[in-house]
Amino acid sequence: MNIFSKKQILVTGAAGFIGYHLSLALKSRGDDVVGCDNFHPYYDPKLKQDRASILQENGVVVLPVDIREREALQNIIDDYGITHVVHLAAQAGVRYSLVNPQSYVDSNLEGFLSIMELCRANSGIKCVYASSSSVYGLNTKIPFSENDPTDHPTSLYGATKKSNELIAHAYHHLFKIPLTGLRFFTVYGPFGRPDMAYFSFTKAILEGKPIPVFGEGKLLRDFTFISDIVEGTIAAIDLGASYEIFNLGNHKPCSVLDLISCIEKETGKKAQMQFEPMQPGDVHTTYADISKSQKMLGFYPKTSLQEGIEKFVAWYTSYFS
Ligand SMILES: NC(=O)c1ccc[n+]([C@@H]2O[C@H](COP(=O)([O-])OP(=O)(O)OC[C@H]3O[C@@H](n4cnc5c(N)ncnc54)[C@H](O)[C@@H]3O)[C@@H](O)[C@H]2O)c1
Repeated sequence: MNIFSKKQILVTGAAGFIGYHLSLALKSRGDDVVGCDNFHPYYDPKLKQDRASILQENGVVVLPVDIREREALQNIIDDYGITHVVHLAAQAGVRYSLVNPQSYVDSNLEGFLSIMELCRANSGIKCVYASSSSVYGLNTKIPFSENDPTDHPTSLYGATKKSNELIAHAYHHLFKIPLTGLRFFTVYGPFGRPDMAYFSFTKAILEGKPIPVFGEGKLLRDFTFISDIVEGTIAAIDLGASYEIFNLGNHKPCSVLDLISCIEKETGKKAQMQFEPMQPGDVHTTYADISKSQKMLGFYPKTSLQEGIEKFVAWYTSYFS
């Protein structure tokens, strides 16, 4: 039996896609939630402002704090009596790490260290942090298991996420900080990220513009709907493990061509595909082995790609109408 005990949770990157949905869900089940975000202009900050406004209307304070500002973070811990940190703030995106590598060092390395030091200075705080399927890099054995080697990332983004896991291990070993890393697999859904294919494809298809399709559209992604990710993340918070890493993926990889046909079905419009070679940093397949997450977190993703895209397209058309 799962008995709910109310927590005081700091969500970093709360104005981001996953942070927004997670904060709303935590708040609605009765936790006290405070968010922080630096509203980075990597993609349209209006989306972040709009998410933050909805959070505020629902009783989640979102403070404009950069995770590298250690004093400001300590004040949040003290003012709100924080017991748990869910660390989602990061520079996301594989391809952008070829364009602006420094941003990954700033948020994903310096920023991550700042969160580890915060946990070190406030013993007892439990931390769940976002890692990524990108850590699997050149791994070709599918599905990807938490026990597989992750020593060959194919992008700086993947390398910073792998570094996070290594730093977390060292901080757990040295200071006994309870730390759980979640390797998210291609998360999508309403209020999502405009840099991701499902979002930019929907926009282009609705506007009658061509879409670039890399690797003949045969790349396989384990597209995972946001509500399933939120459930898995909440289960990890509640488990409060001493030290673990979990895959959170749908366990049903679909091709980019499958994704496009789902969008075509929901929008009622045909895509104009422009085929291009695979991009540097991309991997061919991502596919999560979720047996550990099923066993320890009760993680059973429920949303099919078609259902998830239906919800995304409904949100998209109402948000941009
Ligand atoms: N969405 C996915 O498919 C996916 C997959 C794997 C891993 N992840 C990881 O999950 C986490 C959340 O991803 P998301 O998709 O919600 O991305 P997102 O970009 O929408 O959210 C991240 C948020 O962090 C904020 N941020 C960045 N640097 C910051 C800093 N230095 N200080 C404070 N705030 C900062 C950004 O402004 C943004 O609002 C990230 O760590 C990401 O790497 C996401």
